[in-house]
Amino acid sequence: MVCKKDFLGRDIISINDFSREELEYLFGQTNKIKQNPSKFFHSLDGKIIVPLFFENSTRTDLSFQMAITKLGGRFLDFDINTSSINKGETLRDTIKTIEKYEPDAFVLRHRQDGSAQFVADLTKVPVINAGDGKNEHPTQTILDLYTIRELMGKIDGLNIAIAGDLKYGRTTHSLVSALSNYNNCNIHLFSPDFLKFPKEKILEHQDSIQISEHGLSELEEVIRECDVLYMTRIQRERFPEGFDGEQEYKKIVKSYHLVPEMLKNVYPHFKIMHPLPRVEEIDVRVDKSPCSYYFEEAGNGMWTRMAELYLILGGKNE
Ligand code: CP
Repeated sequence: MVCKKDFLGRDIISINDFSREELEYLFGQTNKIKQNPSKFFHSLDGKIIVPLFFENSTRTDLSFQMAITKLGGRFLDFDINTSSINKGETLRDTIKTIEKYEPDAFVLRHRQDGSAQFVADLTKVPVINAGDGKNEHPTQTILDLYTIRELMGKIDGLNIAIAGDLKYGRTTHSLVSALSNYNNCNIHLFSPDFLKFPKEKILEHQDSIQISEHGLSELEEVIRECDVLYMTRIQRERFPEGFDGEQEYKKIVKSYHLVPEMLKNVYPHFKIMHPLPRVEEIDVRVDKSPCSYYFEEAGNGMWTRMAELYLILGGKNE
């Protein structure tokens, strides 16, 4: 049986590090904090966390900062742009230096796939992966699963459409891995041809989960049978150098723009999620639809990250 001490001092590198039971425990802890936050306001008194964001972020960075602050901990305001990284200092030397100041955890976002594991191998300080290249974004997936569970009351047996840039979209990679922990989920993947979900990841999960691939033109028809649509943006910043992403993007943008008219025949309980930021893939008019849930989803990021920090750092007050 999973208990609090199972999380103490752990890294969060990949969503695959967590069993279904551990994820459920995390969701239970999140509920306790969300329902009674004041009880946890001093849980991390004296703890200091170092956020290291080598790529831009609004939600992950700020929700971690809010989570740390609400739990009574503190974070170092480390700005990559004014740091010695701009003098050529390596990630390795940066970590080896900061760990000597005895922080309680690192939160790392980095453009390189595998960077979070690289840092975790360098230091005994717990490392939380806040997104490593196109690889994974496990804390996003924890909040996504928590949100799905909050909305639907379960995760088993759901029909989930995932649309967008499935090649570079790390949130989709972590989400499909996590859903393979649950029973009888049907995953419908929608992407432009050149941004398909990695074949090797489909093969990895095909025994535990039903996955089907579709063209973007089928989206309106297929979501009529779905419980959740998880939209993502095109990750233009990850396109290879020399690739004419702009031309490709212009070609697909019309077929990849969710408008209220496409939601006429969905189930009453159907919800649209998105890790955000949104660029052009969801029309702002959809925000008024009872189907939209992406801002509430972003809000859950603070609560789930409070639970992660509370458990990893051995929070008090319960
Ligand atoms: N969902 C997400 O990772 O958003 P940010 O890039 O703003 O952190």
